[in-house]
Parts: sequence; C-alpha cells; structure tokens
Amino acid sequence: MLRSRIAGTGRGTPDKVLTNDDLAKTVATSDEWIRERTGIRERRILEEGRTTSDLASLAGKRACEKAEIDPSEVDCIIVATISPDMPMPAVAVTVQQKIGAGTCAAFDISAACAGFIYGLSIADSFIKTGMFKRVLVIGVEILSRVVDWTDRNTCVLFGDGAGAALLVPYEAKDADDRGIVSTHLYADGAGVPFLNIPGGGSAEPTTLKTVEAKRHLVKMQGKPVFAHAVKNISAAAMTALESNGKTPADIDWVVAHQANLRILENVAQRCGLPMDKFYLNIHKYGNTSSASIPIALDEAMREGKVKQGDLVLMAALGAGLSWGSALVRL
Ligand code: ACO
Repeated sequence: MLRSRIAGTGRGTPDKVLTNDDLAKTVATSDEWIRERTGIRERRILEEGRTTSDLASLAGKRACEKAEIDPSEVDCIIVATISPDMPMPAVAVTVQQKIGAGTCAAFDISAACAGFIYGLSIADSFIKTGMFKRVLVIGVEILSRVVDWTDRNTCVLFGDGAGAALLVPYEAKDADDRGIVSTHLYADGAGVPFLNIPGGGSAEPTTLKTVEAKRHLVKMQGKPVFAHAVKNISAAAMTALESNGKTPADIDWVVAHQANLRILENVAQRCGLPMDKFYLNIHKYGNTSSASIPIALDEAMREGKVKQGDLVLMAALGAGLSWGSALVRL
C-alpha cells in the first residue's frame, strides 16, 4: 500500500529570548500568572530585518539535509502560515527561491494553529495520488509582528518559529508499517469571532483609521478558544485512534499543538493519555501556531526521544476554528 512518510524534519527558531519577566516590565502581568495559566516561561522573537520566509527557509533546508534530499529535487512546497512576509504572493514561492528548489509547485495555506496538520494531509494526498514525490511542508509564524504588545490577554501567549517536514513515497507492507497512517481535518466558521485579525483584508481594508484602532493585530476571546480546543483536540485525537483500531496504550508519543499546558492536560485526561507521552516545549517557545508541531517533532527527534518506528499522534486547533489530527508511524 502506497503511503507517504516523513523522511526528514528541521526547525528554525530565533536566537532572541523574551522571558515572562521581560514582559512584566511592559504590561501588567507576572511570570507566576503566565506560568500557572499557560506553562510558558519564555518565547523567541525574530530580530528586525528578518522575515517569515527566512525562518521557513532555514527549517526547510534543515529538513532536506536530514532527509539527504537536495532542495532542487523537491516537487512541491506547502507553507502553513497566518503571518506571511506580505499579503501577496505566497511565502512558499520566496522559500522556493531561497532554498534553490527550482520551479516546483509552491503555495501557502491558512489554517492557523492547525496549519501543519492541514499541510501534512495535503502533502500525503499528493504523494498517494502520484501527483508529487517529494513534498516539503513548513509551518512558520512570526506572530511578534501581528500581536498587540499592549494587550496582556494575547501578547504573553505567542512566539516566533518555523518547523518543516519532507514527505516522500513509501510502500508500506501492512497497516502497522511506517508512514502517515491517517489524517482528519475539521473546521467550524462559527468560531471566527473568537480569534481573528479583523483588519487588512476585504472586510476592513487598511486605512489610517484601521491601523490606529489596531485592527491589523490579533484579537482573541481566550475562554471559548480554550473550551473548544479541549473538546475538539480530544475528539480529533480519539478519532485518529479509533479509526485505526488503536488505543492510547499503542501511542508512543503525542506531539500536539503547544498552545497552553492546561489545554494539553485536559486533553490527556479526556483521552486517557498519560502526560508523560506528551512531548512538551511550550515553556521555551510559547504558542508558535502552525510551527509548534513541526518544531516539537524536530526537537524531539533530534533529542533522540521520538525515534524511527514510534507511533506518534498529532493534534491541533486554531483560529477558524480549524482543527485536526494525524497518526504517523515514523
Ligand atoms: N497577566 C495577568 N493577568 C491577566 C493576563 C496576563 N497576561 N491576561 C489576562 N489576565 C487577567 C484577565 O484580565 C482576568 O482578569 P479579571 O478577572 O480582572 O477580568 C484574569 O486574568 C482571568 O482571565 P481569564 O481570561 O479568565 O483567564 P484564563 O484562565 O481563561 O486564561 C488564557 C487566559 C491563558 C488566555 C486562556 O483562556 C487560554 O489559554 N485560552 C486559549 C487561548 C489560546 O491558546 N489561543 C491561541 C490560539 S488558539 C490555539 O492555539 C489553541
């Protein structure tokens, strides 16, 4: 049976660290509040002058290196982001230039924090249909450029980063062999008011007024997002298991979207998945949206924690609301 498998991963994270104590100097917050409510201790911020495509290219190149595939051999680049270099064209085409990927297909997708799972699913479908052989999926966000640094409800949560995975075809011998076992994608547009950037599009084209009113920056109602994240990430995770005849005991690692430690603790409880199966790095990076799963996967693999042959459950929810899960045998 033809599957796709992850041949290599990579990440690009900025050097500059912004701690909770640093933030407490500019907004009414504290290290204790942020740690207790979210699990975040610090996040990375991209230096001025560098862009989304710079970090995405770094992650993409590293994934190619790890897979021992030259970027010129990549057939398709999918970039999941809600914080592109510019509204048009896609970040993926700039990445294509920067990594030297020839004139392959390249496009962006917008599924916020669920973007990497959506990208993985699209790449998997391309490979299974024979459309492309080597698909680079990158999740990248420079959220520091779209966050209101005076709004303590949001600015403490987010960070910058990029993660990537290179997918290739794989002839699996049986259902338990390596590869992307399944993906499940969902969305509910009733969630648009909970998390959005209202300005800068056709609904509210950029004017002096929209900028003065900070309509170009992230707006969020934390409580409904939290509740939907717990409910829908748990449901998508359980669907991934049940549709493949698996139980929580079969899972080696959960590499889930790192939005809030308490969200993941609630998901763990609902699904009967022990917390020690969750790979966690939210304390170091905060919520990097579409980049969080591929950054965590790359870090976990390079640390030697997540290994070839492990059964990994991925799940995420973000603005849209958009959410999904993926079951992957590495
Ligand atoms: N520092 C100190 N106090 C704060 C801060 C802060 N940074 N932010 C909010 N508060 C205050 C609030 O103003 C409120 O004060 P009040 O009671 O006087 O009004 C109080 O703390 C409690 O606020 P709540 O909103 O009830 O706090 P809650 O426990 O819900 O935690 C949080 C807020 C962390 C945002 C939580 O709702 C959350 O994580 N939601 C999910 C949001 C998320 O992850 N979004 C990312 C995108 S989607 C995704 O990735 C899943």
